[in-house]
Amino acid sequence: MNWFLNFAKSSIGAKFVMAITGFMMIGFVVAHMAGNLQIFAGQEVAEHTETGLIAAREALNAYGFKLQNDLKPLVWVLRLGLLGAFLGHMAGAYRVVTLNQKARPRGYVVTRHQASTSMSRYMAWTGVVILVFVLVHLAHFTLGVLSHDTYALTDPEGRHDVYNMVVLGFQNKAYAGFYIFAQALLGLHLGHGASSWLQTLGIFHKKYNPLIRSLGGVVGTIIFLGNISIPLAVLLGIVKASGV
Ligand code: HEM
Repeated sequence: MNWFLNFAKSSIGAKFVMAITGFMMIGFVVAHMAGNLQIFAGQEVAEHTETGLIAAREALNAYGFKLQNDLKPLVWVLRLGLLGAFLGHMAGAYRVVTLNQKARPRGYVVTRHQASTSMSRYMAWTGVVILVFVLVHLAHFTLGVLSHDTYALTDPEGRHDVYNMVVLGFQNKAYAGFYIFAQALLGLHLGHGASSWLQTLGIFHKKYNPLIRSLGGVVGTIIFLGNISIPLAVLLGIVKASGV
């Protein structure tokens, strides 16, 4: 255990911890996005007639119900893993930033920031905004403290009405705007993070390096577009509330 703590405190060790935990969180974000995109399931049916809306509501609510009931033990294992990854990522980030500060040359009138320092600052501030987003998001959709009325909605089957909670939530332009802004920063954060984790883990190859470096941008863009499609579709009236 001691050797691991010593390793994790070193510059390369902290980056290694951030790479592994970052990868775990990207896995969650992609799976979460795929689940949420079910909000579009059936929307094409007869151009958003009530039948189409009911199909979409059914898809999302049945999925939410399955996670909260049948798959509950698995969900709790994943939640704890995600929390561990999140705390490990924060601890790694704190270590990288403090080591960078210690290593920064002092005594110059004009401070020259190395490229790596400004990149880690950029990762740190985008990371802080993402953290605020996650806290607001949990308060909003998971705990319902910011959305008492919509959180309490149930569908005709008596299940938590995730569909209408999300749609009514994003009909609030301030929320939707904040989500879209946060997703842009998440995309940028992943754009850098997802390419550097492979290199931190030593996965690079002369021939494929440009491809490896562009992977972050591709992953960040897919996650950005997939996630903003939901608040945008609600704001544009493409996805509407159903039966409320
Ligand atoms: C527009 C995009 C998103 C939508 C529509 C959305 C929707 C939701 C909903 C409805 C829930 C509550 C599920 C339930 O309790 O039934 C939830 C939970 C959650 N979301 Fe999101 N989400 C989005 C993006 C994100 C992003 C980008 C992150 C992370 C960076 C994230 C992190 C979480 C977490 C950690 C939970 C709690 C999961 C749990 O209960 O274990 N979400 N989201």
